[in-house]
Amino acid sequence: MIKVLVTGKDSQLAKCIRDIEKKDSSISFTYKNSKELDITDTTSVKNSFEDENYDYCINCAAYTNVDRAEVEPEKAGNVNTIGVLNIAGACKKYEVKLIHISTDFVFDGESKRPYLETDTKNPLGVYGKTKSEAENKIIDLLESYFIIRTSWLYSKYKSNFLKTMLNLSETQKEISVVNDQIGCPTNANDLADLICKIINSNSKSFGTYHFCNKGEASWFDFAEEIFKEWDISVNLIPIKTHEYPTAATRPKYSALDTSKTERVFNFKIYNREDALDNFRLIQNKE
Ligand SMILES: NC(=O)c1ccc[n+]([C@@H]2O[C@H](COP(=O)([O-])OP(=O)(O)OC[C@H]3O[C@@H](n4cnc5c(N)ncnc54)[C@H](OP(=O)(O)O)[C@@H]3O)[C@@H](O)[C@H]2O)c1
Repeated sequence: MIKVLVTGKDSQLAKCIRDIEKKDSSISFTYKNSKELDITDTTSVKNSFEDENYDYCINCAAYTNVDRAEVEPEKAGNVNTIGVLNIAGACKKYEVKLIHISTDFVFDGESKRPYLETDTKNPLGVYGKTKSEAENKIIDLLESYFIIRTSWLYSKYKSNFLKTMLNLSETQKEISVVNDQIGCPTNANDLADLICKIINSNSKSFGTYHFCNKGEASWFDFAEEIFKEWDISVNLIPIKTHEYPTAATRPKYSALDTSKTERVFNFKIYNREDALDNFRLIQNKE
């Protein structure tokens, strides 16, 4: 049995891993929330890693409020960089392979083609900077790690763009959505599947990878697709980023090239339409 420690038990990603865990009897998962395992607290980290001889740690714990990070950079850095360094240190000491989740926000959005793992990073905001620094620390310290950069996650859990759109449509006939930020919306269940596949394959192809569903879209395009899929009629209004000011500057283009991930792990990645369709079908069955 492969033993896996999952940090950030209440994150949308950890909850998606928990959902597919039922299908995967070869892995024994232990989930810890921020009280049971506070990644910024070295004693808490040590105690958790001493609990059990884990084979892998999936780090889902993060400070993910991109806008609030601009006003509390120390707090964001404490979780996203120092906390990750604590986890990486424990992985080294206890010989645990680390699967860490990073973000498209490590890039500045100036690329004219989907970002490769090897492209130069240049984060625009505090959140992206703290996540980028964490990647650097992992790479400096560890050999047995997978850094998976992902983007625009949605799931049935917590707060995300898809849920916000569906909720808004219950009370508003008109919804304004930005159409000049381009990225790759990603079904968090698919990312959970990839993570389990990496673990089950006992892959030694350590390094940095990109994972998102295939196909670029603006938030406006994605909103249109969501309402079409759910057969909801709303008046969607395309707006520019400057008409919806936020504390953090976001990359205007952050599509990720996933060909390395597909090739190395022989993993089929769904395109955006199919991923959304799969998501709705599962919702309908529940
Ligand atoms: N969501 C996206 O669109 C997106 C895009 C790209 C990359 N990512 C990355 O994907 C990963 C998962 O994202 P997500 O959206 O699933 O996250 P999420 O739902 O926002 O959850 C983050 C979790 O981290 C926990 N946490 C915060 N500080 C902690 C600490 N000091 N110790 C332990 N746990 C702590 C939180 O616990 P509490 O609930 O107790 O505060 C929360 O459960 C993150 O690394 C994120 O940066 C996400």
